[in-house]
Amino acid sequence: MNFQCITIAGVIYFMFFQMHLVESSRIEFTNIKCTSMDKKFSDFEYCFLKATNRTYKYLSVKVRLYKIPVHHFTVNLGLHKRSNGLMPFNQNFTFDGCKMVANVGNPMVLFLFALFKPYSNINHSCPYTHDIIVDKLPTHFVNQQFTKYVPLPEGDYVFNSNWFTNGKNRAIVRVHFSFT
Ligand SMILES: *[C@@H]1O[C@H](CO)[C@@H](O)[C@H](O)[C@H]1NC(C)=O
Ligand SMILES: *[C@@H]1O[C@H](CO)[C@@H](O)[C@H](O)[C@H]1NC(C)=O
Ligand SMILES: *[C@@H]1O[C@H](CO)[C@@H](O)[C@H](O)[C@H]1NC(C)=O
Repeated sequence: MNFQCITIAGVIYFMFFQMHLVESSRIEFTNIKCTSMDKKFSDFEYCFLKATNRTYKYLSVKVRLYKIPVHHFTVNLGLHKRSNGLMPFNQNFTFDGCKMVANVGNPMVLFLFALFKPYSNINHSCPYTHDIIVDKLPTHFVNQQFTKYVPLPEGDYVFNSNWFTNGKNRAIVRVHFSFT
């Protein structure tokens, strides 16, 4: 097994042993930050969280791509718990983005992709020839995907992602959320 397989095995192990049956558990987005690392390659037209009322909160992102078509991309994901409690949760792994959008690859990545796919135009195989949009992804949709089984201990988290093409980090998207 290579390092990535071991990391993913660790995530799956963690998910199985830390699952708890708390029906009222909720993921709540608390902040989002998008940073272009190469404005000649891509830039964010918008990137925000908005709460319409107490039950409807959503996240929207639009990325303009200036060097199209994009035939390959790589994503590096990190999930970090924001405290040094008894159960540190730190994961960091990298995968082929074109495999993710073609719905092949490891189940963990496909699960994460399913959390936003219906609200996005990242919904077809590579190449990409258009701007990338995640349009009003609601918290309640993300929560539905977890159903009753929530794979995380309670706390504040940062979900960090680095988006690479040709070995260069082009963009960073960081989503903060709390899990209660
Ligand atoms: C919250 O806002 C959404 C979208 O505008 C609306 O559909 C929903 O009925 C509202 N919920 C409450 C409790 O006001
Ligand atoms: C993963 O770890 C590397 C090396 O420590 C770091 O540079 C990168 O930012 C981390 N990725 C995420 C998404 O946190
Ligand atoms: C992908 O998303 C776009 C924008 O929402 C939509 O117009 C298109 O039909 C979708 N394509 C597929 C294959 O689902």
